[in-house]
Amino acid sequence: MARQAKKFVCQACGSESGKWSGRCDACGGWNTIAEEAGVLGAGAPGSGRSMPKGRVVELVGLTGKDPAPERIASGIAEFDRVSGGGLVPGSAVIVGGDPGVGKSTLLLQALAAIGSTGRNVVYISGEEAVAQVRLRARRLNLSDAPVTLGVETNLSNILTTLAEGPVPDVVVIDSIQTVWSPTLDAAPGTVSQLRAATQLLINYAKSRGAVILLVGHVTKEGQLAGPKVIEHMVDTVLYFEGETGHHFRILRAIKNRFGPTDEIGVFEMSDGGLREVKNPSRLFIGDRESANPGSAVFAGIEGTRPLLVEIQALVAPSSLATPRRAVVGWDGNRLAMVLAVLDAHCGMHLASHDIYLNVAGGLRVKEPAADLAVAAALVSSLLNLSLPLDSVVFGEVSLSGAVRAVAQGEARLKEAQKLGFQSALVPSEIATQKKGGRDGLTLTAIGDLADLLGWVRTCGTSVARSAGADADEPTSAQL
Ligand code: TYD
Ligand code: MG
Repeated sequence: MARQAKKFVCQACGSESGKWSGRCDACGGWNTIAEEAGVLGAGAPGSGRSMPKGRVVELVGLTGKDPAPERIASGIAEFDRVSGGGLVPGSAVIVGGDPGVGKSTLLLQALAAIGSTGRNVVYISGEEAVAQVRLRARRLNLSDAPVTLGVETNLSNILTTLAEGPVPDVVVIDSIQTVWSPTLDAAPGTVSQLRAATQLLINYAKSRGAVILLVGHVTKEGQLAGPKVIEHMVDTVLYFEGETGHHFRILRAIKNRFGPTDEIGVFEMSDGGLREVKNPSRLFIGDRESANPGSAVFAGIEGTRPLLVEIQALVAPSSLATPRRAVVGWDGNRLAMVLAVLDAHCGMHLASHDIYLNVAGGLRVKEPAADLAVAAALVSSLLNLSLPLDSVVFGEVSLSGAVRAVAQGEARLKEAQKLGFQSALVPSEIATQKKGGRDGLTLTAIGDLADLLGWVRTCGTSVARSAGADADEPTSAQL
């Protein structure tokens, strides 16, 4: 018989310790350690019992004829792309995201779409009452969708319900943090409960061939443990992201045992639920009717898909002892690096300027290929010269000031061409490969940041500043 032992578990990072303390040694979080019941089984140190004899497991080779798993596609293209072409039967998926971002909405829509293809789908809500879920369904115009709904948080009731009748194809558990197993002496949402409930649901999925979709709230340290601690247990981890104040939502694959990661699906939250955005580039570059200093269009790649985004920079003289550096949608450390390179190799001294950098549309750009676009936006703002409206930029900046080639140049250029751009600033290597251009797209080779500065000076258009701002015009001494 296993016996119960007490242990102390950090609710933020999941590390265990033998005694309580105010601060977790592993993650440094304050007041995150809670007492939980652990199970001390046979074979565990201190249990005083030896491991029972196991059975022999058959070992096989790598070749064999296993049919490719048949996937369950929802028909919502943005959702299916992120899951790698549809959900794989017998797999467990977490959909994580901030509270209120639209996880329940997304999953209800996906479930309804799967249900309408004749599959058996079940939605178990632990957070909302039947009336609330029905209200949402009505708002989404899905009241007649073939989705069966249950409200329960007790895991043994959930498993018993699922075992009744035909095996469902897809089950949504909204959310995993509310589910608790009666066999554990710990509160719902604690790390022990999360792990135990997830493990039992994964076992159910594997043994029955059903897909389990778990909703997980990503919260600051507090009452509910984040889904981070169960990420390693499931097959696929999707994150649903969105900036407050923007309608765009991005579904991103962080881990996928059955497909590519770094794929994104773009949605727009509207009155009638989430709508797919088929052409996200158009959305992220917005309506750029007139050229403005400080704006550059970056030709990026998200997963397998090219995406054009507008990078905006504002460089203004500062009256503060420590000038401000505010970055939205990009890495602040990378901005510091680009600024240092501009300072060291181009003589652009920005130590006394406030710098604001923003990726339009609420997107978060992680690629180093955005360096050159950021540098172009910064130079354009400082010199008050707007870049040509029809140009895109991409390239990685190295510490020596040289611009390095990046992957998937062809896909980036194709997307720019598709959207009517006529020129591209690209690393020299890519310009040489393409021998000066593609149909209708002129390539300008940028070997280092000095080339970029020269290009902005010759091709940029000067814009009259608003009254009173003339005094801030950069002097030649600053450059
Ligand atoms: P919800 O799916 O409940 O978020 P989560 O499950 O991630 O907590 O969605 C919450 C937000 O979405 C809520 O603030 C309202 C908004 N919303 C719409 O704008 N339109 C809609 O049609 C729906 C259903 C929700
Ligand atoms: Mg919800």
